[in-house]
Amino acid sequence: MRSLLLLVSLGLVAAEDGSSGWLRYSPSPQANRYYHTLPSQVITLNNTEVSPVYVACLELQKGLQGIFGKRVNVTHENGNASASVIVGTVDKYIKVYGNADEVPKLKEDGFWLSTEHDTVRILGQNERGALYGTFEYLSMLAQGNFSQVTYATNPNAPIRWVNHWDNMDGSIERGYGDRSIFFENGEVVDNPDRASKYARLLASIRINGVIVNNVNANASLLSSRNIEGLGRIADAFRPYGVQLGISLNFASPKLVGGLSTFDPLDASVIAWWTKITDEIYQHIPDMAGYLIKANSEGQPGPLTYNRTLAQGANLFAKALRPHGGIVMFRAFVYNQLNESDWKADRANAAVEFFKDLDGQFDDNVVVQIKYGPIDFQVREPTSPLFGNLYKTSTAIELQVTQEYLGQQCHLVYLPPLWKTVLDFDLRVDNKSSLVSDIISGERFRRPLGGSAAVVNVGTSTTWLGSHLAMSNLYAYGRLAWNPADDPQSMLQDWIRLTFSLDENVINTITKMFMQSWPAYENYSGNLGIQTLTDILYTHFGPNPASQDNNGWGQWTRADHMTIGMDRTVSNGTGFSGQYPPEIAQRYENIDTTPDDLLLWFHHVNYTHRLQSGKTVIQHFYDAHYNGAETAQAFVTMWESLKDKIDSERYNEVLFRQTYQAGHSIVWRDAVSNYYWNLSGIPDEANRVGHHPWRIEAESMTLNGYEAYLVHPFETASNYTAIITTSNTTVGTATVKLEYPSGIYDVAVNYYDLMGGKAHWQVYLNNSTFGQWVGDNEDTLGHAPSAYLDGHSATRRTFRNVTIENGDVLQIVGTPNGIEPAPLDYVALLPPGLID
Ligand SMILES: *[C@@H]1O[C@H](CO)[C@@H](O)[C@H](O)[C@H]1NC(C)=O
Ligand SMILES: *[C@@H]1O[C@H](CO)[C@@H](O)[C@H](O)[C@H]1NC(C)=O
Ligand SMILES: *[C@@H]1O[C@H](CO)[C@@H](O)[C@H](O)[C@H]1NC(C)=O
Ligand SMILES: *[C@@H]1O[C@H](CO)[C@@H](O)[C@H](O)[C@H]1NC(C)=O
Ligand SMILES: *[C@@H]1O[C@H](CO)[C@@H](O)[C@H](O)[C@H]1NC(C)=O
Ligand SMILES: *[C@@H]1O[C@H](CO)[C@@H](O)[C@H](O)[C@H]1NC(C)=O
Ligand SMILES: *[C@@H]1O[C@H](CO)[C@@H](O)[C@H](O)[C@H]1NC(C)=O
Ligand SMILES: *[C@@H]1O[C@H](CO)[C@@H](O)[C@H](O)[C@H]1NC(C)=O
Ligand SMILES: *[C@@H]1O[C@H](CO)[C@@H](O)[C@H](O)[C@H]1NC(C)=O
Ligand SMILES: *[C@@H]1O[C@H](CO)[C@@H](O)[C@H](O)[C@H]1NC(C)=O
Ligand SMILES: *[C@@H]1O[C@H](CO)[C@@H](O)[C@H](O)[C@H]1NC(C)=O
Ligand SMILES: *[C@@H]1O[C@H](CO)[C@@H](O)[C@H](O)[C@H]1NC(C)=O
Repeated sequence: MRSLLLLVSLGLVAAEDGSSGWLRYSPSPQANRYYHTLPSQVITLNNTEVSPVYVACLELQKGLQGIFGKRVNVTHENGNASASVIVGTVDKYIKVYGNADEVPKLKEDGFWLSTEHDTVRILGQNERGALYGTFEYLSMLAQGNFSQVTYATNPNAPIRWVNHWDNMDGSIERGYGDRSIFFENGEVVDNPDRASKYARLLASIRINGVIVNNVNANASLLSSRNIEGLGRIADAFRPYGVQLGISLNFASPKLVGGLSTFDPLDASVIAWWTKITDEIYQHIPDMAGYLIKANSEGQPGPLTYNRTLAQGANLFAKALRPHGGIVMFRAFVYNQLNESDWKADRANAAVEFFKDLDGQFDDNVVVQIKYGPIDFQVREPTSPLFGNLYKTSTAIELQVTQEYLGQQCHLVYLPPLWKTVLDFDLRVDNKSSLVSDIISGERFRRPLGGSAAVVNVGTSTTWLGSHLAMSNLYAYGRLAWNPADDPQSMLQDWIRLTFSLDENVINTITKMFMQSWPAYENYSGNLGIQTLTDILYTHFGPNPASQDNNGWGQWTRADHMTIGMDRTVSNGTGFSGQYPPEIAQRYENIDTTPDDLLLWFHHVNYTHRLQSGKTVIQHFYDAHYNGAETAQAFVTMWESLKDKIDSERYNEVLFRQTYQAGHSIVWRDAVSNYYWNLSGIPDEANRVGHHPWRIEAESMTLNGYEAYLVHPFETASNYTAIITTSNTTVGTATVKLEYPSGIYDVAVNYYDLMGGKAHWQVYLNNSTFGQWVGDNEDTLGHAPSAYLDGHSATRRTFRNVTIENGDVLQIVGTPNGIEPAPLDYVALLPPGLID
């Protein structure tokens, strides 16, 4: 027992890099109490080393060792079942032990777990199910849950996949966790170790398929050498019950096949795809299938040859059918539009393209539909396409990658957002029609269906680039299995597994996470206007104007009096009429449209009164101030956990939360100022544009610095920043402080550009109290910017600085590369004040 106690105490201090995710198996504080109740051996009903059943047994060894310091042996079959864990398929169990009458009939991938009596039994419908059950049992133990249970569980749907947007050169589109784990230098990586570790994580959340390459696919993936390489990755996935699939470039027959056409009805094209598909299955006999993005955002597709999208999808369906593969065909098809046409609407595109094709897709085609009609925005109504396909299998597409939601630098726990769609009742034919029941295949009696999520993990030890973002991957798997799962209880399981069983840790992190999506919505885009980010550049910081006056169709139609998209049938784009009648009526009528989608469906005056009683514009202001205030509180909440979390993860999270607190103020000010400028309607609370504690950099005494008008204007206080007069000139900005003597938090707003690492140093009466380097591009991992704008704007705070009236504050900026040590303002904040 002594060594066990030692392990327990070490566990609390050991640094952790996040690479184990939620599979840490850290020593249990209750180990002593439960040690004697644990099984003393593991019986595997399959002795093949690459079998998921055998892998499950190795996982049990690892888990029992880690959590309890108990070594157990794995024995094959027929062992003495007493004081054992038995892992295998139901069928094999019956062969060995005679019967399994207690086990109900399981669906594919389902399992039955019984921890009662002297033997723990984990029986899967298939090998994968047995592995899932094993992870479930270990999760209970790791969470300190020693209750005696017997139950079966089955998946909501057969397809529970993740989509990677990895490019062949090793970069990742919308990836914030470093480089690809699958590709480098145009080829598949040689070493599949990381792929294997990833498959383990995925299996523990019951994900059974991975599309490894970008939907904007490179046809060179289909070279013989790369197909061989994909075989290596698939071999690494297989012991974890994870199947590999790939995205295809529709024009491959022409791009790499030497044909003059990629017409899906052309005999040579059909033969080419059949041959390639057969070759892939020779290397990967269990290949999951293909994901297709066609005729979207410049990608080639069947429309090029005047063939339907269904004809395009069926081309692959026929090649895959003999092998049991599936085609996931993305519904994300739309054209550029002209905003001067009041009735033009990108949101209409999916139904317009797909509704009439219902019934024309082969049975092994699944239409993969983004949760909302536009593109992973902070709030969207449920895609109406889910309610328009009766004779087509469908899957929902979610995004764990926080492309429009803070790019892993803002904490946003996504399941509450996803649930607004999964739990949405479309009332098709006036009958209950939850999206979760449509994608399971149940509502329309379809053979296939499920979920796919964009998950751009990379080589970062944290996988996604942020420890906290892993909660979204964990919960995605849980929801794909059971969409009825509760976001908060899933979260708490994740917290116990990732951080601690300490009640204080659980309660504090729960509070932070459950406030995080509402906070982000508050300071990014409200009332269904979408995430007001820069849609023309990196999708990270604020730029409301970028939504309009271009062909992308993510419009707000904001002018000096009015805002919102009129999507009514009566006077607008007609989008609301794409829903089944009960829902269509709700959204058509402004009085029954919920406030949080008001501007999605209606074009109104800024002075329009919401159901809440506030005007639209005042709601914008209040929400932005509330949201940013909540983000400040995340820092204090996290700090309260200092001694309860290993210092490595504590500090890494603190760094990001501090960054978010600053950037939420950038968002708040930019969006508030933009609409104040546009509407001319002041904030009733007089906060917007009034910052009594701020000193504009341009108003300081400048030496080697000059004023610079920032674009977009709202991303600088007073529209103006300062930059050094050349990239070799050191600049100083000096000011004599006329403030009551006291203790202040000193906040500095500056711009951190990619392509340079400038240095800033802050002095008070010639003595320095702070300095930093412009290296966000290395430390944060979000898509950086080369300009002074809402992406690069960063706010940093030095706390508890003692200041005497008349002190001299000076900032010395040393430029580097293209980064001219830009500064926006300094704020001296009495404790507790945010401004
Ligand atoms: C044992 O596992 C291997 C690999 O997964 C599989 O091919 C085989 O069918 C399994 N045997 C039984 C009896 O389930
Ligand atoms: C486990 O296996 C090892 C090596 O085969 C053996 O020495 C040990 O006695 C076994 N332990 C138990 C509890 O069976
Ligand atoms: C099985 O193991 C239990 C506990 O270790 C022991 O009491 C029992 O005698 C064993 N049975 C056989 C048949 O070996
Ligand atoms: C323990 O785990 C079981 C099975 O997952 C679950 O039903 C039960 O609610 C858990 N108990 C606690 C206290 O979390
Ligand atoms: C596709 O990958 C190859 C390397 O395999 C690369 O040379 C080529 O530039 C890529 N094509 C595109 C469009 O990215
Ligand atoms: C495209 O196909 C449709 C229906 O098959 C046909 O009516 C139309 O004329 C075709 N257009 C062209 C340009 O071939
Ligand atoms: C109806 O549509 C027109 C544009 O066609 C727009 O100018 C007008 O404001 C809309 N009316 C209402 C009541 O929304
Ligand atoms: C919007 O405000 C204008 C000017 O005050 C007014 O004429 C118009 O009726 C208002 N529109 C609505 C829908 O309230
Ligand atoms: C705002 O910026 C302008 C130059 O763009 C400058 O003249 C003015 O003094 C600034 N206002 C404050 C309060 O610093
Ligand atoms: C700061 O240093 C300069 C140059 O050394 C000196 O002239 C000045 O008096 C100092 N200021 C303060 C407030 O100490
Ligand atoms: C700042 O001072 C306050 C009040 O004395 C104290 O509670 C807080 O911990 C200090 N913060 C830091 C970061 O030093
Ligand atoms: C200044 O900028 C130029 C061009 O952008 C660059 O070539 C040069 O290296 C930079 N100088 C320094 C000192 O960073």
